[in-house]
Amino acid sequence: MARFSSLLLLVVLPFLFTEDSGEVKARSVTDSKCPHRRKNIAVLTGHTCQKSCKRQGCSKNRMCICDGKCGLSCIPQGLSCPWPVMIDNAETHLAQESYMFGDFMEVMCMPGFRMADGQEVAMSRCQGDRKWSFTAPCEGVLNTSTLCKPPPGIENGFHDDGPYNTGREVRYWCDYGYHLEGADSLLCQENEEWSHAAPTCHPVNCSQPPQIAQAILVAVHQSVYPVGTVIYYLCKKDFYLDGSNRVVCLENGSWSELPYCRARCPIPAKRSRMIYQGRRLWVYEIPDQLVHHGETVTFFCRGQNGTCHFKAESQCFDGVLKMPDCYEEPTNVQYIMFSQRIVSEIPAC
Ligand SMILES: *[C@@H]1O[C@H](CO)[C@@H](O)[C@H](O)[C@H]1NC(C)=O
Ligand SMILES: *[C@@H]1O[C@H](CO)[C@@H](O)[C@H](O)[C@H]1NC(C)=O
Ligand SMILES: *[C@@H]1O[C@H](CO)[C@@H](O)[C@H](O)[C@H]1NC(C)=O
Ligand SMILES: *[C@@H]1O[C@H](CO)[C@@H](O)[C@H](O)[C@H]1NC(C)=O
Repeated sequence: MARFSSLLLLVVLPFLFTEDSGEVKARSVTDSKCPHRRKNIAVLTGHTCQKSCKRQGCSKNRMCICDGKCGLSCIPQGLSCPWPVMIDNAETHLAQESYMFGDFMEVMCMPGFRMADGQEVAMSRCQGDRKWSFTAPCEGVLNTSTLCKPPPGIENGFHDDGPYNTGREVRYWCDYGYHLEGADSLLCQENEEWSHAAPTCHPVNCSQPPQIAQAILVAVHQSVYPVGTVIYYLCKKDFYLDGSNRVVCLENGSWSELPYCRARCPIPAKRSRMIYQGRRLWVYEIPDQLVHHGETVTFFCRGQNGTCHFKAESQCFDGVLKMPDCYEEPTNVQYIMFSQRIVSEIPAC
C-alpha cells in the first residue's frame, strides 16, 4: 500500500510541476467565479459530476476545482481526457500542449458542415469526468430551398407526393401482387438530381402448387400462378382433411398454409370390447375395424388386484392408434372359453 501511494505521487507530481502559470490560474477558479452545481443540466449534456466540495473538503489526491456546470468539485490530481479525438466531419486541435482537466480542444467543422447549433467552431473542455465537454459530430448543411424534378413514375407502383426539396427522401411502393426491385427511396441531392434510378415493380408468382400425400389438387393448370390465385385440395376416399382445402398464393410468393390428408387408424386390439362413438363395441362391430383421424377410443385395462378394470383412452392420429401401455390383449382361449372374465367384461374398479 505504501509502495503504491509513493508510486502514485511520482506519477502525479511531474504534472503538477510542469504546469505553466497561465493554466494553474485557469484551474483555480475562486469560489465566487464558479457557478453553483446544476446537476440536471450537467446530466443532460452527458457530464458526470465528481463529488461536490462546497461544504467539506476533498480526500487525498483530489483538489477542489470548478468543473463547469458541476460547480466546485473534487477533481483527481493529474486527471486527463482522451487524446487524440476523432469527430465526424471535423478537425480537432488542442488549444495548448496538454489534455488535462480544464484544458481546451478546438473542434472545427469541415467546409460545408455545421454543428447542431449552426456553429462551425466550438471549444471543448476536459471535464472532471475525464470526458471532453463537446464531441458531437458536424452535419452536412443542405440548402433546402432548391428543388429536384418530380421523381420518375413507375409501372404498377407509385411514389410519395411533392414538394421535392433538396434533402427530401421520396419513397416508392408497388401495387398489390408486385414486388419492388432497386432502391425503395430516392434522395433529392444538392445538385438537384435524384440519388438513384427509380425502382421497378415485378409481378409476384407462386411456384407450382405442391403435392400433398393422399390429396387431389383441384386447380386449372397454369404456367404461372400470380398472387391471389386460389387452388383447392381434396382428400382421397377415407382420408380426413386436416386444415383448409382452400389455398391462396400470398403476396410474398408462397402458398398459404397447406392442409393434410390424414389416414384412418386400424384398431390393434382384437379380443376386447372398447368404447367407440359412445358405445361399447367388439372390434368386429366397428366398420372395417378402422376409426377416423382425430377420433378417440376408450380401452379397458386390468385393475391392480385383477378383478376390476379401468378406462384408458387413445386418439387416432394419421393412421396410428397407439394402444395404452396398460392394455393386455386376452388370449384366444380366454376369449373363446372364458369370455365373461376378459378385461372388458369384468366390473369397473
Ligand atoms: C439556397 O439556394 C438559393 C438558390 O440557389 C439561393 O438563392 C439561396 O441564397 C441559398 N440559401 C442559402 C442559405 O444558401
Ligand atoms: C411472374 O410471371 C410473370 C408472367 O409470366 C413474369 O413476367 C414475371 O417475371 C414473373 N415473376 C417472377 C418474380 O418470376
Ligand atoms: C409469407 O407470408 C406468410 C403470411 O404472412 C408467412 O406465414 C410465410 O412464412 C411467408 N413466407 C415467406 C417465405 O416469407
Ligand atoms: C380389489 O381392489 C378394489 C379396489 O382397490 C377393492 O375394493 C376390492 O376389495 C379388491 N378385491 C380383492 C379381491 O382384493
